[in-house]
Amino acid sequence: MATQSPQAASVSQTQAGMPDMDAIELLTQDHQTVKELFEQYEGLSDRSLVSKRKLALKICEELSKHAMAEEEIFYPAVREASRSNEDLIDEAIVEHASAKELIAQIVAMAPGEDLYDAKVKVLSEQIDHHVLEEESEIFPRARDAEIDLQAMGSQIAARKAEIELPDMQA
Ligand SMILES: [Fe+2]
Repeated sequence: MATQSPQAASVSQTQAGMPDMDAIELLTQDHQTVKELFEQYEGLSDRSLVSKRKLALKICEELSKHAMAEEEIFYPAVREASRSNEDLIDEAIVEHASAKELIAQIVAMAPGEDLYDAKVKVLSEQIDHHVLEEESEIFPRARDAEIDLQAMGSQIAARKAEIELPDMQA
């Protein structure tokens, strides 16, 4: 029976084209990326409808992949690490669910429609709040737990690379 050697594991990581970040570094980088995209959106003029659509879809795509990877890989590990993490993870999942609802609405709309900008703005505020809680409460707990964050970083990168969201292509 073939077993995967450590070399094989590092080859597949290289193939995914991802830098060697641990799970928390990777998720923190995602937060930064999305924050910058929201800032770019804010800077667009009211008439830049094509750019708005492109950026909004990019934001929705990035957030959706991030949330999926967190829910499938990161949150279960943090939950498992300690019972005391349960409530925080539950809250994070509920926050994701409300972000997903807004994302679905934004994807289904066209810029220039009533409330489009407002929905993007409210999404950005919700994500700000969620990022703050994650970075100040969940990430420190994950660092303290016995989780192999390095291996999880590769796992999350690989998962994000394979997720396809055709609705969110500009
Ligand atoms: Fe996150």
